[in-house]
Amino acid sequence: MKQGGESRKRQEIKHMFDRLSGHYDVLNRMITFGFDSGWRRRVIERANLSPGKRLLDVGSGTGDMVFTALRKEPLVRATAADFSFAMIKKGRSRPGGDQIPWCSADALKLPFSDNTFDAVTSGYLIRNVLDPLKAFQEQLRVLKPGGVVVCLETSPPKQNLVRPLILIHLKLVIPLLGRLVGGNQSAYTYLPNTTRGFMKPNEMVATMQKAGFESVSCRLLMFGTMTIHCGRRPKRS
Ligand SMILES: C[S@@+](CC[C@H](N)C(=O)[O-])C[C@H]1O[C@@H](n2cnc3c(N)ncnc32)[C@H](O)[C@@H]1O
Repeated sequence: MKQGGESRKRQEIKHMFDRLSGHYDVLNRMITFGFDSGWRRRVIERANLSPGKRLLDVGSGTGDMVFTALRKEPLVRATAADFSFAMIKKGRSRPGGDQIPWCSADALKLPFSDNTFDAVTSGYLIRNVLDPLKAFQEQLRVLKPGGVVVCLETSPPKQNLVRPLILIHLKLVIPLLGRLVGGNQSAYTYLPNTTRGFMKPNEMVATMQKAGFESVSCRLLMFGTMTIHCGRRPKRS
């Protein structure tokens, strides 16, 4: 994509998330049947945080991942970064939100020095960025050597018995909920479409390895529709 086209696309995605911010949390719970909270807890477990460790959550939205981390380990030093001001504003207004450092940041150009964080997490970010490899390279750069990356994402539905049900959920239920609850069908058509066109889990592993991560692993959840990918920045890099 040409540079002008890229920046237009980036603006469109940013505005879409700005518009979604008001209903995002409620719709997220409905679309995932409330399971997303458990998946976030698993991400935070994999991030292996202890008191004083530094966590960055990229594409943090209204901060669910950071709130989950702080509930598990209140003394972790967590930063939430997102390029949607409306998402940040909504997150900051949540109980305890004023205690979190929120950062307006593009995942493809993080405003942090090299070797800053012990862990970097993301939830449903990577399928929205224009260059997933660059996003992982940035996450690697800001991680300390030996630091971990943990990524929660959706995955294209596999050929299995529940595939027809998953397709109904993606093609009909999510857009309908988007229209009824959020008053925004187009965004909730875009989001499932990005899932169907997204990388397969093994392609994501390869992208993370190409970015420089080692010990990359993938865990499939919910009939293979959700994934948690983990990797480590090599100690010597
Ligand atoms: C689907 S939401 C997920 C929010 C949150 N992580 C969660 O798990 O609920 C994706 C978020 O990524 C943000 N995002 C998308 N592309 C981004 C980019 N290039 N840089 C920073 N944030 C981005 C959006 O603004 C949005 O808040």
